[in-house]
Amino acid sequence: MKLTTGAIKPSHAKVDVLAIFAFKDTPPKQVVEFMPVKLRAEILKLSLQTKFKAKAKQVLTFTTHGQLPAFLIVLIGLGSQKRSADKIAESLREASALLTQTAQKYQAQKIGIVLPANLTDLTVAGQACAEGLILSDYKFKKYKKTPKKPEPKIQEAVFLHTDNKFKQGLKLGQIVSNGVSLARDLINEPAGEMTPDNLLKTAKQIAQKSDLINLKSFNKSELKKQGFGGIAAVSQGSWEDAHLIHLTYKPEKQKNKLRIALIGKGLTFDSGGLSIKPSDYMENMKTDMAGAAAVLGIFSILTQIKPAFEVHGIIAACENMPGPKAIKPGDIVKIKNNKTVEILNTDAEGRLVLADALSYAIEQKIERIIDIATLTGACIAALGDNIAGIMGNNQKLVDDIITAGQTSGEKIWQLPLEPDYQKSLKSEIADLRNICKMKGGHAITAALFLKQFVNKTPWAHLDIAGPAWAEKPMNGYTPAGAVGFGVRTVVEYLKIINYKL
Ligand code: BES
Ligand code: ZN
Ligand code: ZN
Repeated sequence: MKLTTGAIKPSHAKVDVLAIFAFKDTPPKQVVEFMPVKLRAEILKLSLQTKFKAKAKQVLTFTTHGQLPAFLIVLIGLGSQKRSADKIAESLREASALLTQTAQKYQAQKIGIVLPANLTDLTVAGQACAEGLILSDYKFKKYKKTPKKPEPKIQEAVFLHTDNKFKQGLKLGQIVSNGVSLARDLINEPAGEMTPDNLLKTAKQIAQKSDLINLKSFNKSELKKQGFGGIAAVSQGSWEDAHLIHLTYKPEKQKNKLRIALIGKGLTFDSGGLSIKPSDYMENMKTDMAGAAAVLGIFSILTQIKPAFEVHGIIAACENMPGPKAIKPGDIVKIKNNKTVEILNTDAEGRLVLADALSYAIEQKIERIIDIATLTGACIAALGDNIAGIMGNNQKLVDDIITAGQTSGEKIWQLPLEPDYQKSLKSEIADLRNICKMKGGHAITAALFLKQFVNKTPWAHLDIAGPAWAEKPMNGYTPAGAVGFGVRTVVEYLKIINYKL
């Protein structure tokens, strides 16, 4: 879908569908005042009859029977205007998604959009509209037989506005949506296809496309030799190779000395290993690389976002399988930073591979770390399907990511990194054990485990086990399946630190 802007008068727009987004507080007359008189009267009558009040997500469709400006007029409510820019942005995403659905239903090719005049933050609004339109149009159809008639697609959405800030936002929204869509594609792909080798291949393609991005990687035998005991142990039950993938983005002119790392859990399949999962828990475990997919999604658009500092993408990619060579409960492994771990449950594998990746980041003198991982079922128990958990050793970093989440419309809630729980990870015969002895709180103890590998470096951990995958549509612009969670928030965070440091 092409997104454009134009100074065309709404009454002259040559579009199939003309959408008008309206705030609840604006009288309906004002909303349609640019319409030809006859049409205006008819729409107002219908809006009265149908009690259209421009409440959030309220839709009124009106067929014009050939009268200009379009064959269909769609009024979409945004709810109250007296809310924060973030909340209004979310209403714009939802309204744009409703427009996509309506336009698809009527097989429209070109849609025109009129926004309310009194939007406060036009860049945020532009980005939100683009995200709502594009992300709601996402489908993963690769494995479906191709329909005889190609499905009609919306070709173009033209916003009848010319403000530069809005245009900038629209462009950014398009870029970010591409990153999210790539992450969704990688996650939706079955594990038999999206192997660690294929994750590496995707990372290579991203690096090849940009002079500013370089790639380094270690395979299973190199990982073993170089002391990445966590990834080596988790991957040893699988036929597939394992990779630690290290992408480095260096800006053209590094104005800022900061080196930040984004670390992704890349379990292309998590069967649980010998501590094997029951089948209904295993069904969706191709999604256990959603953290890695988010990192790749972000890197695929990084040269368009152009941070002024170094960004490192570190992905621990492997499979967790049972087999004659698999790690056994009771085995002890040595992580890259020389700490030893007694593995008592092979299904708590994410923290083992992340421990290596975090230690590696510290070796690389990274100054700030965000890890993204589908780490614990306990995080889903605590926060439900749609909300990610966040924990970290630096409150400012955690706060900034939560704020970025609010702007981007991804829900993130902080859990406490309770120091008292640290002792539950003590082992009699190694430095740590990989599962704690408590009845619950496993999202917290998993994060406390990770904390052992970051020293004092500011670090935040996003547990996306819940929102990585949507069983049913999560919202208007997130269809069932892979969500691509994390891309929007982290890009927003990278924008914040761009000018705060
Ligand atoms: N990949 C899972 C966590 C997960 C669960 C992700 C559901 C997405 C949806 C992780 O490796 C795991 O198995 N964690 C265990 C930890 C336990 C053994 C301490 C869990 O959460 O049950
Ligand atoms: Zn597991
Ligand atoms: Zn896992």
